[in-house]
Amino acid sequence: MSLKVLSVASEAAPLVKTGGLADVAGALPAALAAQGVEVTTFLPGYPAVLAKLGKTRAVHKWDALLGTPARLLAGKLGEHPLLVLDAPALFAREGGPYADAAGRDWDDNWRRFAAFARAAADIGGGAVKGRSFDLVHAHDWQAGMVPAYLRLAPLAGGRGVPSIITIHNMAFQGYFPADIFPQLGLPASAWTVDGVESYGGVGFLKAGMQLADAITTVSPTYAGEIRSVEFGMGLEGLILARSNRVHGILNGIDTAEWSPATDPHLAARYTAGKLAARAKNKRALEQAFGLDRDDGPLFIVVSRLTWQKGMDVLAEVLDHLVGIGGRLALLGSGDGELEARFLAAAARHPGRVGVRIGYDEALSHRLQGGGDAILIPSRFEPCGLTQLYGLAYGCVPVVSRTGGLADTVIDANPAALAAGVATGLQINAVNPAALASGISRAVALYHQPGAWKRLQTNGMKADFSWGASGAAYAGLYRQLIGEQG
Ligand code: ADP
Ligand code: GLC
Repeated sequence: MSLKVLSVASEAAPLVKTGGLADVAGALPAALAAQGVEVTTFLPGYPAVLAKLGKTRAVHKWDALLGTPARLLAGKLGEHPLLVLDAPALFAREGGPYADAAGRDWDDNWRRFAAFARAAADIGGGAVKGRSFDLVHAHDWQAGMVPAYLRLAPLAGGRGVPSIITIHNMAFQGYFPADIFPQLGLPASAWTVDGVESYGGVGFLKAGMQLADAITTVSPTYAGEIRSVEFGMGLEGLILARSNRVHGILNGIDTAEWSPATDPHLAARYTAGKLAARAKNKRALEQAFGLDRDDGPLFIVVSRLTWQKGMDVLAEVLDHLVGIGGRLALLGSGDGELEARFLAAAARHPGRVGVRIGYDEALSHRLQGGGDAILIPSRFEPCGLTQLYGLAYGCVPVVSRTGGLADTVIDANPAALAAGVATGLQINAVNPAALASGISRAVALYHQPGAWKRLQTNGMKADFSWGASGAAYAGLYRQLIGEQG
């Protein structure tokens, strides 16, 4: 049976991307098409999305969507169906999807994403002629209210459909003051701990977790970690209470976008059997980042510069990295203070540390295709995609043992090296001493060319495509639709 699913996300590559959510939302339609599921993606109509939509037509209108006129536009995300919410009062503004150009969250984010969710619930319930759906799949807090509307305020006369919420990051919960509640268009009975109330306010992610038919996390380890106070960030009790509804499904990577054999961004394309060609990419990176040429390893970073990613800890150990013969090329943006620390390190270590502050998709591919090892010392990591890109590109991941990093990188410990199965290095804790020792291990292994090459080729041959995870989502969809009867 062919199923129709509405995937509701606040970003999707290649139309709008601030992080891994976009990669996943952008890849799901193809991953699920292979499983006989047609995924329609639903996005907010940010200017960048509308500009890329091309010729389009309105397929539905709201006179007042939470008080705002809105239209639904139809388009394509690659070869797959796309719906876009054109609501100028909410989305026609310069800046990012969630914050203004200065990085300040929009004051009306609650209204922007409640309206988006309300629209999604209407569409899921069958409001748009000729488009019916069997299930709605919501991603993160920005779509967290979708299960709440579907359950507590469904479209009048609409069809009841099950919903899933995927938690890509528990740290962002969409938590707002209680006084927005009357404006959400929910019945008064929704103001309860079994509804949308959370610690005295309205919790969008919490509402989704409470009211969806299933909760998924983007790795199995993260599904376990968020049962604890440290990782659950206040919602661990809810996860425990609903634990029989929680599933960890690992993200895959879009091999059409991320494959060193075909990547158009690279100076030289290569395969596991032709690793020597990578040298050309490394030389290009050294040039681009103003780094010395030498025989030591070139470490890379492609990351949001934030506390989650352990970037403050990395900043602490740069002198050590340089001291033992390493070089670093870093691409990232985020906290101003961290950006300044990395720029200062580059000034302190000319030729050894190169820093590019900003967001650059093409450069991110070139870093994976030319770097020797990618550093990812995250304090928590729901899945992580950059270690998967590193594995696919022969850029050996050096990661902390948490979340999806723990699930995807096999540490080069003596047993794994002897068995020939290691793919990277794991550090035991996120502190300067542990990271410095991980970097030292990486440098030592790099100077054993046979062992290093084995790490690279093991990673490149491992399968991180969407096959297994696409099947897992499809299985879960079918189970929930079956339960609904
Ligand atoms: P998160 O979503 O938590 O930031 P992920 O590892 O899941 O972490 O995904 C990050 C995505 O964003 C990857 O595709 C990565 O290549 C990309 N990325 C992060 N920072 C940058 C940057 N400065 N320039 C280009 N791409 C970036
Ligand atoms: C979030 C997480 C990251 C994950 C991504 C996609 O941004 O921080 O670990 O890979 O979502 O699921």
